[in-house]
Amino acid sequence: MAEQIAIKVSNLKKSYGKTSVLKGIDFKVRKGSMLALLGPNGAGKTTTVRILSTLLKYDEGEVSVHGYDVKKQSEQVKSVIGLTGQSAAVDELLTGRENLIMMGRLYRLTKASADSRASELLEEFDLIDAAERPVKTYSGGMRRRLDLAVSLIATPPIIFLDEPTTGLDPRSRIAMWEIIRKLMSDGTTILLTTQYLEEADQLADQIIVIDGGKVIAEGTAKELKAKVGKDRLELIFRSANELRAAVKLLNKEVAGTDDKEQSLTIMINDTNTDVRNVLDKLAKGSINVESMAVHKPTLDDVFLSLTGKTAKVEEEEK
Ligand SMILES: Nc1ncnc2c1ncn2[C@@H]1O[C@H](COP(=O)(O)OP(=O)(O)OP(=O)(O)O)[C@@H](O)[C@H]1O
Ligand SMILES: [Mg+2]
Repeated sequence: MAEQIAIKVSNLKKSYGKTSVLKGIDFKVRKGSMLALLGPNGAGKTTTVRILSTLLKYDEGEVSVHGYDVKKQSEQVKSVIGLTGQSAAVDELLTGRENLIMMGRLYRLTKASADSRASELLEEFDLIDAAERPVKTYSGGMRRRLDLAVSLIATPPIIFLDEPTTGLDPRSRIAMWEIIRKLMSDGTTILLTTQYLEEADQLADQIIVIDGGKVIAEGTAKELKAKVGKDRLELIFRSANELRAAVKLLNKEVAGTDDKEQSLTIMINDTNTDVRNVLDKLAKGSINVESMAVHKPTLDDVFLSLTGKTAKVEEEEK
C-alpha cells in the first residue's frame, strides 16, 4: 500500500511586500508521524504554519492537508486541524474551562459534549485545580498546556505546534514533551516548529531545517548528525608535559589541543577500535591519560555546520 501522506507542500513561496520569506519549500509529512520544522528566529516557521492552517495566503506552490487543497478547500482543512502556538488565542478573562467550552461550541460540539470534552482535557493536561480560574492568573507552562488543550477540543487528526516549549523551564518542557508523545501514540499527525535542536531530536520522526527561506537539510536526527560526521575522542592529561608528549606521539591523528585543559581531540570512526589503538600507542609511550570522553555530534553541531550559525534562541514570553 502506498504511504499515506497527511501534509504535502511543494514549491511554497511567500513574500511580504518585497521581502521574500519562503523561497520554494518542499516537504511531506506521513500520516501519524511527526515532522519538526527547525530554524532560527525569522526563518519562516510561523509563516509556514499559518499558511498550512489557512490563516495566511501564499504566492506560489501547492499545499494540501489531509488531501484537501489549502487554497480551494479551506473549510475542510480547518475541520481536520488543530493549531497551537505563537498565533493561537485564548481569552485571558475567561477561565480555563470556559475557554475550552467556548472553543468546543465554536467547533459545533453540543453543549453536553463540549462540557465533557473540556473536563477530559483539563484532567489530561493537569489543569483541574486551575480550571475555574481566569487564564490571566496562569503560569507560562499552564498557559501552554491550555493552549494545546484548546486546539484538541475537536480531536483533530492533524495538529500544528508552533514552538510549544519556547520560554518554558526544563520541567515544564519535559511535561509538554510527555503530552506531545501521548498525542503521537494516539496516531495524531504533528507538524512541530522549534528552535530547540534537542526537541526535534527527542520527538520527531523527520526533521527539516529551514534558513533563509529554503530547506537546507532534511532527514532523521540520526541522518543529520551523520552528515556532520565523526565522534570526537577527548583525552585529558595530568601535566602539560604529558600532553606535549602525547601530541608528538599521535602526531597527525590529533585534530586539536587545549593547553588550558591539558587535553587533545581526535576524530574517530569506530569507537571500539580507534579508542583502543590510541590507548595502546600511549601505553607503549608510557604516557598516562587522566580521563577521556567520546562525544557524539549533536544537532547543534549539525546546525552550526549547515548554517554557520549556532541555534541561538530568543526567549519570547508574552
Ligand atoms: N506580517 C508580516 N509583514 C512583514 N513581514 C513579516 C510579517 N510576518 C512575518 N514577517 C517576516 O517574515 C520572516 C519570517 O517570519 P516568521 O514569523 O515566519 O519566522 P519564524 O521562523 O516563525 O521566527 P520565530 O522563531 O522568531 O518565531 C521574518 O523576517 C519576519 O520579520
Ligand atoms: Mg514563529
